[in-house]
Amino acid sequence: MTLRMLLIGLIGAVMLATLLFGSVATYLHAMSKVDTEMDAAIAVGARIAHNGIDDVEEATNARRRLELLVADFNGDRHLKAEVIDDSGVVVFASEIAAPSDPVPQWFYDLLGGAPRSIEVDLPEVFRGLGRLVLKTDSHNEVSEVWDDMLNTLAILFAFCAMIAGLVYLTIGRALKPLESLSRAFEDIGTRGFAVHLPEAGPEELKRVYHGFNEMVDRLAAAETENRRLQEQITTLQEEERTEIARDLHDEIGPFLFSADVDATTVQRQLEHDPRADLRERVTRIREAVVHMQRHVRGMLSRLRSGPRTELGLAVAVESLIAFWQARRSEIDFDVAIHSEGFSEALDRTIYRVVQESLSNAVRHGNPKHVLVKVGEANGTIGVVVEDDGTGWSSSRGRTGFGIKGMHERLSQIGGTLEIGPRGSGPGVRVVASIPFAAQAELEAVGQSASETFEQ
Ligand SMILES: Nc1ncnc2c1ncn2[C@@H]1O[C@H](COP(=O)(O)OP(=O)(O)OP(=O)(O)O)[C@@H](O)[C@H]1O
Ligand SMILES: [Mg+2]
Repeated sequence: MTLRMLLIGLIGAVMLATLLFGSVATYLHAMSKVDTEMDAAIAVGARIAHNGIDDVEEATNARRRLELLVADFNGDRHLKAEVIDDSGVVVFASEIAAPSDPVPQWFYDLLGGAPRSIEVDLPEVFRGLGRLVLKTDSHNEVSEVWDDMLNTLAILFAFCAMIAGLVYLTIGRALKPLESLSRAFEDIGTRGFAVHLPEAGPEELKRVYHGFNEMVDRLAAAETENRRLQEQITTLQEEERTEIARDLHDEIGPFLFSADVDATTVQRQLEHDPRADLRERVTRIREAVVHMQRHVRGMLSRLRSGPRTELGLAVAVESLIAFWQARRSEIDFDVAIHSEGFSEALDRTIYRVVQESLSNAVRHGNPKHVLVKVGEANGTIGVVVEDDGTGWSSSRGRTGFGIKGMHERLSQIGGTLEIGPRGSGPGVRVVASIPFAAQAELEAVGQSASETFEQ
C-alpha cells in the first residue's frame, strides 16, 4: 500500500469514527427530545380539554359540544382526541396533522417510543356519550428528527469528501519529491552513478537533492578508486610473481645446475675409481645448497610480509630502520621508542605508520637525517617521524595510497594524522596521535600528541 493511500485511509477511519460517535450522540439526543415533546403535548392537550369542558354546566346539545371539543384537536401534530363509547368503539376522533416527509418505518421503530394516553374526566352533562381519551402520536416529531439528520449527514458527507479530496491532493504534492528520489535510487541500480537530481524547489528539498547528488558523486569516486586499487593489486601480484620467477631463475637455477653437474661428476668418478678424492666437488655442492637455502629463506621472509611486532614494537621498528640503513647508508637514522609496546592492534598500526613515513621520507625527501619517536603521555600515544629532506609540498598534486592508508588505519582506532613542514628547516614531519586511555580522560587532557612530543 502506498503512503498516500495509507494516510488517506487513516484520515477516513478517523472521520468514520467521528460520524459513528456523532450518530450515537444524535440518537440519544433525539430519543430524549421525542420523549419530552410527547410529555409536553399530552400535558398541554389535557389542559386544553379541561379548559374546554370546565365552563360547560348545562348543554342543550352535549353531544355537539363534545364533538366540537374533539374537533379542537384537529391538525394537532402530536395529539389525537377520541371519544370511545362503553363498547370500546371510537365514536368520533380528531384528525392528526400528516408528517411533511414520510419516515422509514425502521427509523420510527427506533425513535418513536410507546404512545402515551390519558382519559379526561367528563362532567355530568356528557354522561352516556363515552370516554374522552387523548393519545400521543410521535410520527411528526420523528419526521422532524429524520429531516434534521438527513441535513446534518449531507453537510458532514460533503465536508468529509472535501477534506479527503484536499488531503489526497496535498499529500500527493508533498510526496512527489519522495517519488522522484525513489526513482533516482532505482536508476542507480540500473544506470549506475551517473544519476543526478535537479537541485530545484523549496530550500529543504534542494538540500536533500544536493545531498543525494553529493552521495552519488562520492560513491562514483569510491567505485573508481576501488577499481584502481583492484588493478594495482593485480599489477602488484603480477610484479611479485615475476620477481619470484626471476629470483628462482637467476639465484636458484644456476646453483641447482652446478650442484647437479658436481653430483654427476662425483657419481662418474666414483664409478671409475671408488677411492678418488672428491672433497672439492662435495664442498662445492654444499656451498650451492647453503646458498640456495639462504636465498629461499630470504624469499620466504619477503613473501611473509606482515609486520613482525611479536618481539616488541622497538624491535620491529629497529628492523625497519635496519632495512633502510642497509639500502641508504648515507642517511643517519635516529630512533627513540619510550615504550615496551601497547596492545597488538596498536603496535601493528604504529608499525605501519612508521613504515610508510620512513618509506616516504627516503623515497621522496632525499634526507640526510631521519628521526623516529614513539611514546605515550596523558593517555595519548604519539608517533613522530621527521626528515630533513626536500620538504613537503601540498601542491605536488599526486597523492598515493600511503598517506590515505595511514589516515584510514588511524581513524579506525580513533587516532589522527598530521603531516606538514618540519618547522625548523626543510623537511617533513609526520605526527600520529592515538588515544590510549579512556575517551573521557582523553578529552580532559585535550592536547594533541603533536604538542606532547614537541620537546
Ligand atoms: N617525507 C616526505 N618528503 C617529501 N614529500 C613527501 C613526503 N611524504 C610524502 N610526500 C609527498 O606526498 C605524496 C603522497 O604520499 P603517499 O605516501 O600518499 O604516496 P606515494 O608515496 O607517492 O605513493 P604510495 O605510498 O602509494 O606508494 C608523495 O608522492 C610525495 O610527493
Ligand atoms: Mg608513500
